[in-house]
Amino acid sequence: MSFDTEVGDIQLRNPLILASGVLGTTYSTLQRTYEAGLGAVITKSIGPRSRIGNPNPSVFALQEIRSVINSVGLANPGYSIFREDIQILNENKIPTIVSIFGENKEEFLEVLNGLKDLSVLAFELNLSCPNTEKGGTQIGTDPELVKEIVSMLRKETEIPLWVKLTPNVSNILEIADAAIKGGSDALVAINTLKAMVIDIQTKMPVLGFKRGGLSGAAIKPIGIRYVYDLYENFGDKIPIIGVGGIYRGEDIIEYLLAGATAVEIGTSLGVAYPENMIRFFQMKIKKYMKEHQFNSIKEITGGAHR
Ligand code: DHB
Repeated sequence: MSFDTEVGDIQLRNPLILASGVLGTTYSTLQRTYEAGLGAVITKSIGPRSRIGNPNPSVFALQEIRSVINSVGLANPGYSIFREDIQILNENKIPTIVSIFGENKEEFLEVLNGLKDLSVLAFELNLSCPNTEKGGTQIGTDPELVKEIVSMLRKETEIPLWVKLTPNVSNILEIADAAIKGGSDALVAINTLKAMVIDIQTKMPVLGFKRGGLSGAAIKPIGIRYVYDLYENFGDKIPIIGVGGIYRGEDIIEYLLAGATAVEIGTSLGVAYPENMIRFFQMKIKKYMKEHQFNSIKEITGGAHR
């Protein structure tokens, strides 16, 4: 039995990847989660300049639904500073995917060109942050802009480009199609959902930025549905990476059956000991594969469509 996974031309030791935004702003936490047993790690989204993000509180746990709402606002050190972290990850041979964002195509280009000489497994394009005025969702909901940005970046590098899709659209297939036409190497679904929490005592929104993005267990059935739809329409053309609300090994199997080649795990690793969580995930996947006589991850992918 093997956990080996291929996402396009990328080989991974297993299909579990640290999702962007969680434990991903310094090399040390990225390295820690890889060493705990993941197949690869994705950085917090990196932009052209350092940003402090939105006012606190910017992260709020919704324990009763094992979920989190955040309005971080793309806080990050900027690519010229973050380069050093990637260099350390390179030296330590940590398979690293770098999430990048920009407010427009020029900024995306600047960040890509500032990092593409490093050893990066793939760039994940964050076209879908819900917490900024410019860039983010505003790009990821416009098929023309998605195609334009992906095809522009495509010409600049041979490094695979993964497009992370927002669920905050009426037709995700249209955006996915634009990403594929632009030359994307994989689709990642889903990013956070637009959401809000109000404190009934203060009678005000809890987050400093008022509005935020929802992640965690509450969004898993939505992620499953999008991965299923994407696989049905594009599964023969492009690998799909499932993300959203993975808390248990069973959730990972569910994403694979829906059509995912690999999965990204974020919120649950941020609220528990990643070492324990990852161990449980691996044990559960192994048990499932044994019980259902699967010899490889690839055999599970898309099983719910037969
Ligand atoms: C942020 C970015 C995201 O892509 C997301 O889904 C949630 C939050 C942020 O930095 O605000």
